[in-house]
Amino acid sequence: MSALPLNIGETGDGRSTLRSPHGVGAPGVTSPVSPLPGEAVVRGATLLDVPTLESLMAPYVATGDLLPRSNYDLCRHVKEYLVAEAPDGDLVGCGSLKIYSRDLAEVAGLAVRADQQGTGVGRVLMEALVAEARSSGIAEVLALTRKPAFFHKLGFVLAEKGHFPLKVWADCARCPRQNCCDEITVVLKL
Ligand SMILES: CC(C)(COP(=O)(O)OP(=O)(O)OC[C@H]1O[C@@H](n2cnc3c(N)ncnc32)[C@H](O)[C@@H]1OP(=O)(O)O)[C@@H](O)C(=O)NCCC(=O)NCCS
Repeated sequence: MSALPLNIGETGDGRSTLRSPHGVGAPGVTSPVSPLPGEAVVRGATLLDVPTLESLMAPYVATGDLLPRSNYDLCRHVKEYLVAEAPDGDLVGCGSLKIYSRDLAEVAGLAVRADQQGTGVGRVLMEALVAEARSSGIAEVLALTRKPAFFHKLGFVLAEKGHFPLKVWADCARCPRQNCCDEITVVLKL
């Protein structure tokens, strides 16, 4: 299935609820419905979220599924991040969209809290990130991942990392794993 553009509706307090483009919550339906469990919402991250972003990503940095990010880096780029917030205020997932050019952006730092995995949080975060890329007019979104099957579910296809020199210059050139990289490059054309 390809990643679908979701309409993100402002609720007036800076948050957004996700409206599925099909079925319940489609444009024109009055009450926005989040597909997340318990009506959680996806919203832009703020500086106050940075410690939680660090906690969400830490277990996957430890396993090598995510690259480490410093507090400084997270603060500088916090506007690139979306977070999934449960009704109790807990953040249960995050992800970022790094824009390289008009043509290319990368989904990075995608993490779902272990006890929430498999409940659709990753999918709605991805769909919101892809919708953001699409609304910015970006032509394609790439990801480097050890979980290509998850991305395939969202319509991404395999690609060659060498086709994305901006990514290679930005990160791979200074990555400690550059000579033993086990990440798979996937891309979604928008
Ligand atoms: C990968 C990750 C973000 C997926 O998030 P999630 O919330 O568990 O995924 P979802 O529940 O939204 O799953 C969406 C679909 O992908 C599938 N899926 C999820 N993880 C998968 C995996 N590792 N392999 C294959 N399929 C997977 C689900 O079965 C589901 O399919 P369905 O719609 O047919 O039922 C999450 O497991 C995670 O945080 N992993 C650790 C960090 C990481 O590896 N991040 C990606 C780095 S680029």
